[in-house]
This record gives sequence, structure tokens and C-alpha cells, in this order.
Amino acid sequence: MKPVRKAIIPAAGLGTRFLPATKALAKEMLPIVDTPTIEYIVREAIASGIEDIVVVDGKSKRSIEDHFDSNPELEDNLKQKNKLELLKVVEETTDINMYFIRQSHPKGLGDAVLTAKDFIGDEPFVVLLGDDLMQDDVPLTKQLIDRYNQTGESTLAVMEVPHSQVSEYGVIDPATRVTDDGLYRVKSFVEKPRPEDAPSDLAIIGRYLLTPEIFEELEKTKPGKGGEVQLTDAIDSLNDRQHVYAHEFKGERYDIGSKIGFLETNIEFGLKHPQTKDQLRAYIKELAAKL
Ligand code: G1P
Repeated sequence: MKPVRKAIIPAAGLGTRFLPATKALAKEMLPIVDTPTIEYIVREAIASGIEDIVVVDGKSKRSIEDHFDSNPELEDNLKQKNKLELLKVVEETTDINMYFIRQSHPKGLGDAVLTAKDFIGDEPFVVLLGDDLMQDDVPLTKQLIDRYNQTGESTLAVMEVPHSQVSEYGVIDPATRVTDDGLYRVKSFVEKPRPEDAPSDLAIIGRYLLTPEIFEELEKTKPGKGGEVQLTDAIDSLNDRQHVYAHEFKGERYDIGSKIGFLETNIEFGLKHPQTKDQLRAYIKELAAKL
């Protein structure tokens, strides 16, 4: 069995929910406290043992490439001022094997993954979506890799969401629970069903481990929901020829794809950050007393 070494991070979305901030800036560069959201995603991949990461991006995304490049002028400046902690923070992100492919005519998540076909080749790989930050003792991507090492088959991360929200997600129709710790065989995968049609409340949450056969399915997949080539549809077809498992995530998920989720995540991370936690806690108490 080939090891899982490569990751795809789709980042071609226009970020319209964050306009005007995203007119010239990639939404993946918006910070949670002091770190761009994409850096959290890249760190999860690295902490899970991923060696090569390809970002599928589009226009106005140059800042992502610059962020993972070296910046000699800044590094010299930090050295001269003896700001070695900051130097370490800046240098850490330049030693990662990052590659960039442009999706010139974005046609949906499935199409973004297909764009990276030649980069992936004939190996299992992971896909990490940037709108979800995950926290757990073992990184979620590592949990999926561990599942793959047991089953040798594709596995997606799922989580129970409120029934009224299922139409925002891909949803699974679970067949059987394979293990007590939340591994499911799946009957079908449905992209953004209406709540009354949803087969369950188990939603796909932005982390996928896929075998390379998914590319054959993606090549055949016609535009689906919203006129886009949906990864969920290709996964549903893959499930007809290989098993695709669902792994239930039990950790913390932060949805940073909406304004409110982004603000909440900034507050929660700010309450944990050593440089901001005390002042932020005091400020929130003061503010709450006034509300
Ligand atoms: C995408 C997927 C969907 C998945 C979701 C997770 O949707 O198409 O199946 O549940 O990510 O965040 P998007 O949020 O890009 O519309």
C-alpha cells in the first residue's frame, strides 16, 4: 500500500462573503489573531506527516505564494534587531514543500481537485478545505490517514450538524457502523440536500482522504448542484467501485467561511493566545457588562 504523502488545498474561491477585504487580498490570508487561515491548514497537513502540498489557486492569490516564500529583507531586519522568536516564526513557513497550480476557469471543488491530477499521480492523497479549522489531540488529517492505513480505502471526515443546516453541506447516508469509534460504511453521498430530503445529519466537513481512482470519476462527473462539478458527486460514484468510508470527527471544528464564524474563531483563538488572552478576557467581561 502506498503511503499518503501529498495534499491538495483548494484556494481558488473568490471570497465574496468577505468583500471588500477580498477584493485584492486572498481570503486564505485573512488572519485568525496573527496567522493567516491557510497557515493553520498547512500546519495540520505537516503535523499529519504530509510532505508535499499543492495549492490550487486563482487570481489575486499571489499573497499566498509570497507568504510561503522566503523574505530576505524582513529576515535580515529581524536578525539585526535580534527578534529571534519572530525570525523563527517567519522562517518556519519557508521550509515546506509547497506547489501552486492555477485553476483558470473555476468550475467547482471537483474541478479544483481534478486540476491537481498530474501532481498527485497514482497515490492516495488528502484534500483540506480552508473554511474549516479543526482541533483535536490527533490532527484530523492524521486520523484519516490512520483509517486509510487500516482499510486501504477512501475516507471522509463527517460531523453531526443541526438538521436545519444540512443544506450547506455534503451529507452521507450511512449504511453500517464498522467500529464503535465512528467509522461508517456509506450508502450514498448527497451534495447540499434540502433538510426534508437529507438522509442524515452527518455532514462532510472539509477533510478527505481519497484514492487516485477519484480522478477517473471526476473526469466523468457532470456539473451538479449550483452548476459546479461537485467532489461529493464523484465520491458517490467512486463508492460504487470501491468502499468510501466516513469517519466521525469528535474534536473542535471552527467554521471560518462565514463572517460570524470568523469573528467567533478570532475571539476563541485570542482567548488562548499568550499575548492576547488576559487583556481580551478582561475586555469581553467589560463589554458584556455594558451590553
Ligand atoms: C464544500 C463541499 C461540501 C462540504 C463543505 C464542507 O462545500 O462541496 O460537500 O460539506 O465544503 O465545508 P462549500 O462549503 O465549498 O460550498
